[in-house]
Amino acid sequence: MIQSFKKINSVNGTVKFQGDKSISHRALLISSLAKGKSVIKNLSGSDDVNSTMSCLNALGIQTDFNEGVCSVYGKGFKGYKKPSVYLFAGNSGSTVRLLSGILAAQNFETVIEGDESLSNRPMKRVIDPLTQMGAIIEGDDKVRLPLKIFHSEKLKAINYKMPVASAQVKSALLLAGLHLVEQTSVIETTPTRNHTENLLGLKINKGNNHIISTVSSANYPEPKGYFIPGDISSAMYFIVLTLLTENSELIVKHVSLNPTRIECLNVLKRMGGNIQIEEKGISNNEIFGDVIVKSSDLKNVKISEEIVPLIIDEIPILTVVGIFAEGNFELRGASELRVKESDRIKSIFKNLSKTGLIVEEFEDGFLVDGQLRNVSESFESYDDHRIAMTFAILSSLIEEGGNVNGFECVSVSNPEFLKQLYSIAN
Ligand code: S3P
Repeated sequence: MIQSFKKINSVNGTVKFQGDKSISHRALLISSLAKGKSVIKNLSGSDDVNSTMSCLNALGIQTDFNEGVCSVYGKGFKGYKKPSVYLFAGNSGSTVRLLSGILAAQNFETVIEGDESLSNRPMKRVIDPLTQMGAIIEGDDKVRLPLKIFHSEKLKAINYKMPVASAQVKSALLLAGLHLVEQTSVIETTPTRNHTENLLGLKINKGNNHIISTVSSANYPEPKGYFIPGDISSAMYFIVLTLLTENSELIVKHVSLNPTRIECLNVLKRMGGNIQIEEKGISNNEIFGDVIVKSSDLKNVKISEEIVPLIIDEIPILTVVGIFAEGNFELRGASELRVKESDRIKSIFKNLSKTGLIVEEFEDGFLVDGQLRNVSESFESYDDHRIAMTFAILSSLIEEGGNVNGFECVSVSNPEFLKQLYSIAN
């Protein structure tokens, strides 16, 4: 589907987002492990979270999802049933990586598949440490989907130092460790999102150069109620549009303000963004609140490599900010972008190269310089939701507008994107 976008002159209004995608996956998985009914309010209705839900259904977990509220009837410790089909994780890396930690601890064999993009994403990073724990996992070529996860009688606790910064891998190990009496520890030298730790209420040890998360069956969950704060990664597209259009003001309600997720707002503030953050509450250790944004004049700032894992999903849209801000936009230390839903460095490079901008591609980032041409362009989504939304916003900022080819993939994270955009745009 080709979606056209006209120039948006200003933005005004209030917008709410469905529950954060990362927190939604975890709330579903953790509820499925607890014995009894959990109720999740404001669960994400995205395709990715639906993938987690349908895998759980295939594992014998009943869910009722209506108007943002989901009841999950968890089956307790090792309560999943052997599925009669291969599990299908769609486009969702979080589904396959997080679930593989739980499946490694079950008493039966499962196979997980995914769509074409997911089938090309690296799984060795999760296979290796789970194998160290005694899991028996076979991947295609040892490193890709489909993953065959066998019953292992020898699962054991480990202390694992993360070689790549990945919240999905960390979470897989914590979810496997939840099934063991002995303590499993995951050591990070670069912080990543901590929702699994928050929802399980895990003990975290912070040193100068490391964070240690520890889990054991003592942390095994009980059924409970959840409120999932709005998705800050989805909100970013609208926050950026507000900053970059004149006479604009936007209020984002009840959005996640988890400190491991709002580094993107801190970058915008350092660039000169007029952004106010008001904390309103906390649910299962997840802080939420309102973000008030106004039009701003922005300057590019240095993005240090240590914060890249904390802004990894927002880099595409931060690039659009970089184009309109004073100075050049340069990003390094972000080679992880190459193994996301698309090779995001390539996707950004190819799309931006059509706009008159001078883009230099590096193995681990890119540099954007020069002047944007005010000519209507056709951008490609590369079947990557964040690329589709990024170039929808860029198109909305160009005098002549623009088109995004393959726009339907936005439903992977935000099926309400267009409705929200039209509700606040002038
Ligand atoms: C996620 C972690 C990140 C992020 C992804 C969601 C999660 O991936 O890019 O969109 O929910 O844990 P990595 O763990 O691969 O960095």
